[in-house]
Amino acid sequence: MLKIGVLISGGGTNLQAIIDNIERGCIKGKIQLVISNKKAAYGLERARKAGIEALYINPKDYKDSQEYNQRLIEELKARGVELVVLAGYLKILSKDFIQAFRNRIINIHPSLIPSFCGPGYYGERVHKAVLDYGCRVSGATVHIVDEGTDTGPIVLQKCVEVDQDETVESLQKKVLKVEHEILVEAVKLFCEGRIFISGRQVKIL
Ligand code: GRF
Repeated sequence: MLKIGVLISGGGTNLQAIIDNIERGCIKGKIQLVISNKKAAYGLERARKAGIEALYINPKDYKDSQEYNQRLIEELKARGVELVVLAGYLKILSKDFIQAFRNRIINIHPSLIPSFCGPGYYGERVHKAVLDYGCRVSGATVHIVDEGTDTGPIVLQKCVEVDQDETVESLQKKVLKVEHEILVEAVKLFCEGRIFISGRQVKIL
């Protein structure tokens, strides 16, 4: 049974989608630990309600990002975590963290990477940029996390139509729905050992 760790910063609807699909038996994995850098993140409550250990770790308690990430690595490794899922996690991971979980960290991003991603592109800003550009489709991406920001190999993507009267709110709702779908699918594939990464290519067997 693959041991999963989830990092969050907010509401945790992506986390909830994973919890629900584990409970339904669709994902053959176990969430060992949920960590948030935000004390008020409702995702911590979602984890507790599901009987999952949930930790709030305050970055301000550490002298720098390096030390904070070292604490994250220790907590995850102590529980044997083999797959780290960034589900609405808004902090950058250190090089040591990436190295400690090389090719075993996935992130869900609310656009079709490589569009509308990278530093500063998160939450509603992504959808506003899509609408301002006049795109006719948008969507979500699950990718492997490497040393860059939203630059790792792509695992899964799914599109949504952008309607004429689309608003940031309506687009965010549409995209969040497909985020849940492809994040659950990606975690499921990892748990089934069907993901193989070679360079920028991710093969699903
Ligand atoms: C979502 O918009 C998602 O695109 C991004 O984080 C936001 C919050 O997700 N990854 P969640 O509801 O906290 O899972």
